[in-house]
Amino acid sequence: MEKFIVKGPCKIKGEISISGSKNAALPILASTILFEKEVIIKNLPRVKDIDTMINLLKSLGSEIKFNKDRKIVKITKKKKQNFFASYSLVRTMRAGILVLGALVSKHQKSITSLPGGCLIGARPVNYHLNALKKLGMKYDIKKGYIHAYTKEKLKGTKIRFSKISVGATENTIIAACLANGITLLRNCAIEPEIIDLINFLKSGGAKIKFIGKRTLKIEGIKSLKSTSYSVMSDRIETGTFCVAACLTGGNLKINNFDPKIIKTELSLLKKVGAKIKVAKKQIHISGPKKIKNLNNLVTKEYPNFPTDLQAQFMVLLCKAKGKSSITESIFENRFMHVAELRRLGAEIIIKKNKAFISGDTNFQAAELMSSDLRASVALVLAAIVARGSSTINRIYHLDRGYENIENKLRKVGVNIRRVN
Ligand code: EPZ
Repeated sequence: MEKFIVKGPCKIKGEISISGSKNAALPILASTILFEKEVIIKNLPRVKDIDTMINLLKSLGSEIKFNKDRKIVKITKKKKQNFFASYSLVRTMRAGILVLGALVSKHQKSITSLPGGCLIGARPVNYHLNALKKLGMKYDIKKGYIHAYTKEKLKGTKIRFSKISVGATENTIIAACLANGITLLRNCAIEPEIIDLINFLKSGGAKIKFIGKRTLKIEGIKSLKSTSYSVMSDRIETGTFCVAACLTGGNLKINNFDPKIIKTELSLLKKVGAKIKVAKKQIHISGPKKIKNLNNLVTKEYPNFPTDLQAQFMVLLCKAKGKSSITESIFENRFMHVAELRRLGAEIIIKKNKAFISGDTNFQAAELMSSDLRASVALVLAAIVARGSSTINRIYHLDRGYENIENKLRKVGVNIRRVN
């Protein structure tokens, strides 16, 4: 199994370019099932989850042609459409559930695996199923699979999500595009990746518009037309590199990302002492000599502080002067990195969904185990500022969502290598 060896402490200095967003590309790829004609998707990140989604699309009958560097894909339909999304694919990548709305909407049937549990929380799909049911989908659950069908086309209706969910909002938007009539969706997630999905669908002719901050109106159309679309850049990769620069007292120019999308994160980094200059598609960040603490940082839906940056900010606050605290309000078990950070010397106490961080930690290198994607990158960040040589095991978690991370880090001064 591959691992990273990181020799710290290192200072980050230089320039990097942000890759395409994994969490925007996944629903966009799933939604290509709605199209009859050719679709071209550009700026795909080269990460494992994208390969899994592509394999899922292939298994459903899409024809896939990549360009040389696998960042542009042309998707066309073969004659035979399949409807079976297997457990082996959906289990490893929960976004596989996003093909459900597309299959039922376009082809009136699907057998999609339930994703099952996940390290960071139970992550049920009840909001997805409830919303699709309101659009007319019938379903039974047999042997771990959702057997879904509808006799006629889905029918537009009014739906209010009882809780904000990124995936449920995406699945329902995708399904409603080709439904008969008008769908009103209230209490939607408004993450930038959802806006990107909407922009993609609109580029194919879908009629979707916001009529309130979290309310969408979708006018069903008969079919979507051929389109070509470039996926947005990854805001979590950007946030991770901003934290890395700040943590090491470094100096980093981050290219190919619109800073307006991560205003909340940038203002938090300013609070801890970073100096930040922004241009149209660039962030220039320099870390402070002394990192200031933050009290009661809470993860919440966009435009608030994202759960996907919680672990990275925790590492930063371990190095801050004084005590900090973070509340995780999205997932019930997203503190997997804490036990590993303690092995590097961090003093963190967990009480329910709140982490109390002592600060002023002198990280000392250790052998570490990755758990989920963001916990793993947090370990890499901590290893960068730890004294000595750390080994990070099970880095396949990182390969699911960070493109070329060791090369990008090496280029800006981190002593990191991948070994078998
Ligand atoms: C998306 O997951 C992201 N994944 C996650 O990114 C991200 O952490 C999360 O949104 C929150 O921002 C992708 O975009 C592929 P949710 P999703 O539905 O859609 C509960 C990463 O590291 N819930 O907004 O699964 C759920 O358990 C990942 O890149 C239900 O109870 O998140 C959670 O507590 C991990 N029933 C909360 O809602 C449902 O039917 C929010 O989940 C759906 C969700």
